[in-house]
Amino acid sequence: MNYFFTLRFLTSFILSLIIVYSCSKNGGGTAAPDPCSGVTVTISGTVNNPTTIGGSDGSIVASASGGSGFSYNINGGAFQSSSSFTGLAAGSYTIMARNSNGCTGTSTFVVVNPSNPCTTVTIVVTGTVTNPTTAAAANGSIIAAASGSTGFTFSINGGAFQSTGNFTGLGAGAYSITAKDGNGCIGSANFTLTAPNPCTGLVITVTATLTNPTTVGGNNGSIVASASGSTGFSYNINGGAFQASGVFSGLTAGSYAVSAKDINGCIGSGNFILTDPDPCTGITITVNNTITGNTPCQANNGMVTAVAAGGTGTYTYSLNGGVFQASNIFSNLGPGSYTITAKDVNSCTGTSIPAIVNNLPEGPLFSQVKAVLQANCVPCHNNSQSEGGMNWTVDCNIVINRDRIRARAVDANPSAMPPTGLLPASERQKIINWINAGGKFTD
Ligand code: HEC
Repeated sequence: MNYFFTLRFLTSFILSLIIVYSCSKNGGGTAAPDPCSGVTVTISGTVNNPTTIGGSDGSIVASASGGSGFSYNINGGAFQSSSSFTGLAAGSYTIMARNSNGCTGTSTFVVVNPSNPCTTVTIVVTGTVTNPTTAAAANGSIIAAASGSTGFTFSINGGAFQSTGNFTGLGAGAYSITAKDGNGCIGSANFTLTAPNPCTGLVITVTATLTNPTTVGGNNGSIVASASGSTGFSYNINGGAFQASGVFSGLTAGSYAVSAKDINGCIGSGNFILTDPDPCTGITITVNNTITGNTPCQANNGMVTAVAAGGTGTYTYSLNGGVFQASNIFSNLGPGSYTITAKDVNSCTGTSIPAIVNNLPEGPLFSQVKAVLQANCVPCHNNSQSEGGMNWTVDCNIVINRDRIRARAVDANPSAMPPTGLLPASERQKIINWINAGGKFTD
């Protein structure tokens, strides 16, 4: 039966030492003395850590004392004569040494990764940017510099590292510059190279040859546009899709905006107006009037009836430049001169020659009555006397007061006129005939 007594000393982060007291003896009291009694196998060692973090090139070189003829194993593996164990990653390893008498000791060694040299380093990359001179040119540059450490090399967009921070021949775009110091510690910065606006100072002019529709409302108008001031133009109309051709056809009358876009997307525009042909060209609208004369001594009842021809569709009519109306008849007109204008559906107009509305002539029955009054009444009913307010030398006074004339001169109501007695029946009959016929100036 073996007895083990283990005492661990941790001497540093790279070296642990376990001193093992090992004693074995045979079971019986009469057996041979235990060769390990009083023997202490002690293992010291040198630990070489991996050269990189996560690397597996670490090693432990052990050295045992407390006997001779040592062999070694690691982590309970097979014994070997060499005390050197290589190819080790970071970790804890137990080395056992066994001497020629079989007495053993163990010691645990800790292999650790190297410390990260970059944790305390901050590398700042700065740069001077020169933009390319045109959108297409690759003549921009970034002159980068780094601070925070030493021994820098530089890489652009993850490419190979180079000794200088000068990167030339660059087009517009975004770039990432990485600086790496002698320990492999890195810092990065992003730079953007912008091309100058190709449209600045550029004037694109759009001109066009216009063809108006040949009929009113027709859609056979066209715009043939061309642009100057740049190259590689495409065209659109009224904000539509751009097309290679500047020809836009099938257009109705209206206002159109044509834009031209050059190879760099710079835009110029022009506004163009297509107009319908004048629908009145070649159209002559005539207006002929039928005139009805005015009857004097009454509210105006003259009338003009217009008839238009030569235009399109139905007409509206205006009297003396007034509001157009649907009716071609203007009534309640007094004597005077009137012009009628007719307008067709295309707003083409024509105007009549002046329509003269005259007073209608005196009628024969009125003339007879007038003669009766001149002969029998005017001696009293005249400009200077106007008996009873009546002056029969004014024609319209006769017309307006015809009922009173009949009452006095025919019916003697309330008393006869002339006061000296009623006129002969034949004369009175003239008054009756006129009034029965209507009693107007024209009767
Ligand atoms: C000699 C003068 C004299 C003659 C002629 C005369 N009148 Fe008169 N007339 C008068 C006088 C005066 C009055 C006003 C008194 C009255 O109304 O009786 C009058 C009044 C009237 C009136 C207004 C009164 C009413 O009833 O409305 C009428 C109408 C009228 N005469 C008609 C005639 C007619 C028509 C004649 C001719 C056929 C005529 N007179 C001839 C003297 C005359």
